Amino acid sequence: MSRVLVTGGQGFIGGHLVKALLDRGDEVVVLDLPSAPGGALALHGILAEVELIEGDVADREAVGRAVAGADSLFHLAAQTLVGPAAADPLGTFRTNVEGTWTVLEAARGAGPAAVVVASSDKAYGPSDSLPYREDDELRPAATYEGSKAAADVIARSYRDSWEMPVAVTRLANVYGGGDLNRSRLVPEVVRAFLDGRAPKIRSDGSPRRDFLHVSDAVAAYLAIEAAVIAGPGRGEALNAGTGEAHSVRELIGLIREKAGSAQEPDFEGEGSPPGEIDEQYVDPSKLADLTGWTAALSLDEGIGEAVEWYRQYR
Ligand SMILES: NC(=O)c1ccc[n+]([C@@H]2O[C@H](COP(=O)([O-])OP(=O)(O)OC[C@H]3O[C@@H](n4cnc5c(N)ncnc54)[C@H](O)[C@@H]3O)[C@@H](O)[C@H]2O)c1
Repeated sequence: MSRVLVTGGQGFIGGHLVKALLDRGDEVVVLDLPSAPGGALALHGILAEVELIEGDVADREAVGRAVAGADSLFHLAAQTLVGPAAADPLGTFRTNVEGTWTVLEAARGAGPAAVVVASSDKAYGPSDSLPYREDDELRPAATYEGSKAAADVIARSYRDSWEMPVAVTRLANVYGGGDLNRSRLVPEVVRAFLDGRAPKIRSDGSPRRDFLHVSDAVAAYLAIEAAVIAGPGRGEALNAGTGEAHSVRELIGLIREKAGSAQEPDFEGEGSPPGEIDEQYVDPSKLADLTGWTAALSLDEGIGEAVEWYRQYR
């Protein structure tokens, strides 16, 4: 049995990852902020199976306790919302950047076999060169993008400077049941249609994104961990996505169909919302070549699962 730390394990992706690690037979430690009921661990019914350390990821003492004795470490804790990042750059940089170096410094002393750090496809920033590839330059523009790019660069520097077994993940837009962040597109649109409301959309529906189901995101994390332990994943940045772009309008149409709604979405914006990228999808072939991972669910299947999850959750 391995002892595995997940920072941000009360969040959307972290909660699903913790569940998969428990299913694998691991002993799981979660570091997250003191959480209100409704955190992912309670949502998945696994709170009692986890050692929960309530603390801030930029707090060295709390992080040191969480990292001690961990065989693997997944660092997902972050301020993940684009709007709040623009409104509070210092808080966002503190969590996303200082939090990352605090985890890496603790890991440097503790010697885990794998450290997997959540960067994001947003770390690339806007670019006309599609799909986004790992050797593209990181050119972040908005605050959230800058915070993820900084965490990405800092994490990889620990490989070069300290030979730490670290990799960074650059996931596309992750969706699926269990995301309670209502300001995100998929949860809000699904809930609106299920509640008989017209969802309000901040764009004109034209932005195009690579939508990755959370089960595929978790499988990517586990594949990357294995590649780091085996060696070839060390020091690498790895995209995970479907490699396809779908417009927000198309996504909403699919959700509407699965939810069986007659409501029309209310497109309130022109083009993309301020500070957001118009078109983004990633080339996942590096991860596929390294580990054999590919996204298993089609958008149709993934949205079907998400709509059913929210239907039952209500
Ligand atoms: N959701 C996506 O589409 C997506 C895509 C690419 C990358 N990512 C990255 O994956 C990671 C997980 O994303 P998510 O969607 O699960 O986000 P989330 O917001 O649902 O979860 C983030 C978790 O981090 C915790 N956290 C925030 N600040 C903290 C702090 N100061 N100390 C300790 N914990 C703190 C939150 O309480 C939350 O439980 C993040 O690093 C995010 O940047 C997400």
